[in-house]
Formats: sequence, structure tokens, C-alpha cells
Amino acid sequence: MKNNPPVPASEPSVKSQYEKPPELYDGLRLHQNENTRGCSPRVIEALARLKPEQIGFYPPYAAVTEACARYFGVTSDRLTVVNGLDEGIMALAVAYLRPAAGSDLVPEAIVPEPAFEIFRFDTAVAGGRVVPVMPNPDFSFAEEAVLSAITARTRVVFLTNPNNPTGVPVPVEAIRNIARRVPKEAIVFVDEAYAEFAGRSFIPELPEFPNVIVGRTFSKAFGLAGLRAGALVGASDTLDPARYAIPVYSLNIAAVVAVQAALDDTGYVQEYLRQVKESKALLYAACDRLGLKYWPSDANFVLVRIGDRIGEVIDGARARGVYLRNRSSEPGCEGCVRIGAGYVDHTRRGLEVIEEVLCGAR
Ligand SMILES: Cc1ncc(COP(=O)(O)O)c(C=O)c1O
Repeated sequence: MKNNPPVPASEPSVKSQYEKPPELYDGLRLHQNENTRGCSPRVIEALARLKPEQIGFYPPYAAVTEACARYFGVTSDRLTVVNGLDEGIMALAVAYLRPAAGSDLVPEAIVPEPAFEIFRFDTAVAGGRVVPVMPNPDFSFAEEAVLSAITARTRVVFLTNPNNPTGVPVPVEAIRNIARRVPKEAIVFVDEAYAEFAGRSFIPELPEFPNVIVGRTFSKAFGLAGLRAGALVGASDTLDPARYAIPVYSLNIAAVVAVQAALDDTGYVQEYLRQVKESKALLYAACDRLGLKYWPSDANFVLVRIGDRIGEVIDGARARGVYLRNRSSEPGCEGCVRIGAGYVDHTRRGLEVIEEVLCGAR
């Protein structure tokens, strides 16, 4: 399925169409970096306690904003809840990448590749121009190239830490250097969708860097992707233009109660994080055994270079009920598959089918 943006990105070398993954729900989903066991049971209990009138009324946000603020260690004026981080990214694009009426300036968004595809797509929708920065061969953060790409037209630098699809971190000093270099009208967006797995965040640095906005999601570590909830964190004045672009009742009441219940069960997330760590060790060991190149990941997935047999692996795994994400079309990722590394039994099953396809075992 494809959603085509109404305004094409002006870089022909980089895909400007978002290819939504096919809707596959009858197998093991190792292709969208989700928590494959879903949310904490406490979330289900909280949803079951919802009363008819709560569903009849427009939702309140003060308590969930307060709960998120406590979790992120900020005051609630420095945080906006969003209907999934995707909505937050779109709001930032509308706020900062829309050409001003009567101006010839086309705002630029710097996107270090390979990147979360939504950055390109949303930049194009807002009417901005994507400035892709090609990756280092080892996917280490291309700081000098990003700094060189900054111009007077730069309005957003999109960073993801740790990065998707590579799992490779962005050094904190690089984020600081970029934030110091961008024009005063610009922001640096640090997408921390996978920060729980890395155990690091730029949020404590935000008071010193009012031009940086951090994005967080409850879709990954907390297993709430189906409910859609995330947050933008940063200086209130910097968040305001994005706030104007977010619908007034963006989160529904189910997401509101779910986020609060999820934040009350940190033990559930801790156990998932433990399993992710073990899964990644298993994945690395399997790659070493099979002679496959991989990039050590700070997230809940691992990018692995399969090479020429990539199609065979994706299709063979799918035929066996395991879904993997082919990232071959992303810059620098030729022949690469992204494999979810969550619960250990799910990882073992994923590895089993990959080995079966590659080694022909039954
Ligand atoms: C880097 C990154 N940012 C944002 C998102 C979207 O998060 P959400 O589900 O909260 O919209 C994802 C989801 O895959 C992601 O990988």
C-alpha cells in the first residue's frame, strides 16, 4: 500500500513515497520493532475499567501529561502528548518546514541517512526540501557531513538516537554541536523512539539547548503501538508552533488511561528490556556463526546484511509465518534485513527460520 505525498521531495535520489508495511497479523511480527507480547496486563485492566461517560466525553489531558512529565523528569509545560510520535513529527514539519506566505525561501530539512522514512515524507507534505546526508560505510554518525549540510535555509535537522534502521547511536556531543550550528529559526529534532533500550536520553540537556525537541513514543518499549501515544519534549516556546498544528483532542481516552497504567508498571518494561538484551546477544552469535555482517544495536532490532539472498530470506521467512523488514532500498542498506529482537523465544523462532532458509535445513 502506498500513500503519496501531494508535494514531491526535491531530491530525486531519495525515495519520497512512504511505503507502508503490508498488514500482516497472522504470524510473528519481527518487522515493525513492536513489543511482540503487547502491553502490560495493567493496561488491559485500566481499559476494562473505562466507563461509558468517559467514552462519551472529550478526554482530559492534565493527569496523563503530569504522569509523562514525571517519567521524563521535566515540568509538564515542557511536554505535549501526541497521537503517536508520527503525529508529533508531522506537527513539527508543518510548524517548521512550511514555506512562509509570500517568501521564496523553501525551508530545508537535513536527514542523515539511512533514516526513519517519515522524515522525508512529512517534509514533502509540509512543502519543505529534504537535504539527505549519505551515511558513513560503517553507519557511524556522519557529524561533519551533517554540519556541512547546514545552510541559512535549514529549519529542521532530523536525528534518531539510536537510529532506525541501524540501531547505531548518535554521540551526544554531535547533537550539541549541531544544535549550536543551526540558524536561530531552526530546530534539532532528536527522535528517541528507542531510548528506553539505549538507557540514554537528551532530555536532561534540553534546558541548555532550547532549540532541541525530543520525541518519545509508547509504541515500542511499552507495547502501546495500537493505541497511538507519544510525546514531544522541549522548551515551551519551541514546542508552541507544533502545538498549534496538533488537533486539540489528539489522544483518545483509551490511550490516555493506557499510558498512565503503563507508566505504573515499570517492572513490565524492565523485563522486556532484559529480554531484548538477551535477544541481541543471540542474534549477534547467530550472525557470527553464519558469517553475516551486522551492526551492534542500541535498540530492539538488529540490521543484518544478507546480501544477494535477501529476497529469499524475506520470502522464506514469510512463508514460515515470520515477518522481517527488507531495508535494501535505504541508502547504504543494500541486501540488509531489519530483525526485531524482543522476547527471546520470538528471537529464537526468527533465527530458526533464517537459518532454515539460508542453510536449507528442515
Ligand atoms: C524512529 C521512529 N520514530 C517514530 C516512530 C513512530 O512512533 P509512533 O508509533 O509513536 O508513531 C517510529 C516507529 O517505528 C520510529 O521508528
